[in-house]
This record gives sequence, C-alpha cells and structure tokens, in this order.
Amino acid sequence: MTATTPHNPRLDLLQPYPFERLRALTAGITPNAQLRPISLGIGEPKHPAPQLVEDAIRAHLKGLSSYPATAGEPRLREAICGWVARRYGLALDAATQVLPCNGSREALFALAQTVIDPGRPGATVVCPNPFYQIYEGAALLAGAQTAFANSDPARNFAADWSQIDAATWARTQLVYVCSPGNPTGAVMPLAEWRQLFELSDRHGFVIASDECYSEIYFRDGEDAAPLSGLQAAARLGRGDFRNLIAFTSLSKRSNVPGMRSGFVAGDAQWIRRFLLYRTYHGSAMSPVFQAASIAAWNDEAHVVANREQYRAKFAAVTPPLARVLDVALPDAGFYLWAGVPGGDDVAFAQGLLAQYNVGVLPGSLLAREAHGVNPGAGRIRLALVAEQAECLEAAERIVAFTESFTSSL
Ligand SMILES: Cc1ncc(COP(=O)(O)O)c(C=O)c1O
Repeated sequence: MTATTPHNPRLDLLQPYPFERLRALTAGITPNAQLRPISLGIGEPKHPAPQLVEDAIRAHLKGLSSYPATAGEPRLREAICGWVARRYGLALDAATQVLPCNGSREALFALAQTVIDPGRPGATVVCPNPFYQIYEGAALLAGAQTAFANSDPARNFAADWSQIDAATWARTQLVYVCSPGNPTGAVMPLAEWRQLFELSDRHGFVIASDECYSEIYFRDGEDAAPLSGLQAAARLGRGDFRNLIAFTSLSKRSNVPGMRSGFVAGDAQWIRRFLLYRTYHGSAMSPVFQAASIAAWNDEAHVVANREQYRAKFAAVTPPLARVLDVALPDAGFYLWAGVPGGDDVAFAQGLLAQYNVGVLPGSLLAREAHGVNPGAGRIRLALVAEQAECLEAAERIVAFTESFTSSL
C-alpha cells in the first residue's frame, strides 16, 4: 500500500501475530541439526480426527451443491442444544439462543463488530493478559481501544479484574473471558463470574466467554469439568444469559481444527443481532460440515478417549519438567505455562532451539505490557499436542537444556 492508497486506517493498528514475532526473534538461529526438530510452539491439535466425522463428511458431500443458511440447519442447532443439555444441564432454545460458527476464532472477532459502538467516547474492550490475540484485533478493527487485566500467578493465573479502574469500566462495551485460559489453563471460578456479572449489570457491557478448551481437563470428581459461563450465569439466577455469549469449538474437543466448526450460545437478543451481522458478513457453515458437526456433537466417546490421551501425556511430561521449571498441571487445556530460570523467556526459547531443536513460545509474546509489567514475561508456553513419545523426548531435551541454562546464569 502506498501513502495515497485509501485503506482502513485501523488495519495499521494491528500487531504482528506472536508466531511472526517469534520467527523474527529466531531468524538468525541455526537449530542443532543432530536432533530432529520438535515444535511445542503452535497450539494445533494433532490427535487424529474421529472416524465418525470423516464418515459423515463422505456421506454428505452432496451438501456442496447448496448454499447454507447463516443460522444453520435446525438439526444442527438441536444437536448443539442436546450437547449443552448433557454437558451443562441447561435447556437452551435452539431457535433463539444458539448459532453455529465457522470455528470460534471468526466468531470471537465478529462479535466485537456486532457489539462495539465506536461513536461512544472511549469505547473499550477489556482483555485478559496474556491472551489470544484475536481479541485485540477484533477490538481495534471495531474502533475500540483495549484495556488489560493481567493474570495473577499467585491466584492460579486468574485475570485480575480489579486492575481495571472505575472510569475504564464505565467506557467498557465488551469483555473477553478465556476459560480454560490460553496459555495458562486456568478455569474461572463462580465467584469471579459473579463479580464480572455485577460489573456487566452496572456498566452494560457484553461478556464474550471463550471456552474452546473446555473438554480437555485433568481433574476428577464432581465439578471436574470446567465451568461454562452459561452454567455460571444459570447458577447465579441469570437464566436469560443477559449480555453473555459463550463460544465453544469442535477444533480441540474433536481434533478437527481444519473443519472450522463451533457455536455461540447465550443472550437471545445478542444472538439475533449477531445473526444479522453474520448474514452480511457471510459466515455460514458448509452443509457438509454441518452434517459432520451433528455427528461430532452427538458423540461423547471420542471426546473421552481424546481427554484420556491428553491426561496420560500430561501425567508423563509434567513431573520431569517440574523438577527444573516452575510448572504444574493446569486445570484444563493442552498447554503447560512454565516459568523459566532467570526470567528471560525469549533467551530461553532461543537457546533451546539452537541447542536442542525444540520450539516453544516465549510468554512475553502472548501478552502486552500493562500496569507496568508484561505478565507473560519469564514464562514459556508448551503445547503438548504431538504424540506422547515426542512430547516426552521434548521434555527430556528441555530438562537437559534447563540444567545448562541455569548453570550459565
Ligand atoms: C483461546 C483460543 N480461543 C479460540 C481459538 C480458536 O479456535 P477455533 O477457531 O479453532 O475454534 C483458539 C485457537 O487456538 C484459542 O487458543
């Protein structure tokens, strides 16, 4: 683009994606060629897609010949409501309280375009910090500014909403919640939902609850499965889910990130406005993937098996790493969020790549400097998405590297 080419000036506000920044930070590094490369950097599910999804795709290829409706087929919305009823014990209205989306990423972005009124002075979107960068881009392209609630390592990495002052809350139109969190794996407890709902009632903002890691969790017993914002609302007497939209995805639950399938659920008023926005934006799910999504939402056996695979992997990989890094089993998700010795996450990631050919994501790239600190600094994110043997090999190399890195400090 030249200076004279008209373009949306908000595009210039967008920050490079963390992986782009990582590429620049590792451009001059030659990874140890004696060892095969292992990447724990990208959070892309790698377990195989379930057979029943592949079968449903093959059986419904004729769907390629018709335009889908943005609202999705009633059968899909009913399958989604069936899943919500089984998983959360909630009876949603398939006609007014749910919508399919093409993965949660586009929907998280699009909701901001539906909610934000950039004409109101100081339009603000509150994000956790560290965070999934789509929230920031969604806010900036909608004409809002961002404010950050840093995660607090002393409270299981909970976002510290109290860092947002009253004047900022008064301008806030949208709050992103990420529970289970990326990268921290922390699940937001009911008490914090109560606090956020009270703030939402006082200031009139919408809560976008990103729950795409909800089906990968590590605890057992009652309430082991992560609490959804929808459940929290219902438990707190907010059965109309006012000003709440939850985002759920098949990408991680069913290992189909390439299918682009998820759903949004919650406040019927916002679902109606969102449908209007989406109709113009053109976010309708292919009939083929609608059929495959129905099969996926209706089956829980593959989800249990997938969770077991993650549990075994985390049980094997976390203890050796915990001997050298500040790391513990998260509540949920497929990341380890590990503190590194000396606190320089970028130097650690660079050295690990150079000496042991293992790629990890420096935590500082996942966060913004806010309230005087970068709350991702000093930590690295390890995505345990590969098969267990590969993750274990990576862990052994990280242990060896950390020992030499620590002694060089
Ligand atoms: C926190 C978070 N939210 C949303 C997404 C988007 O997932 P999808 O669009 O595949 O549903 C991701 C993907 O990695 C993520 O980490």
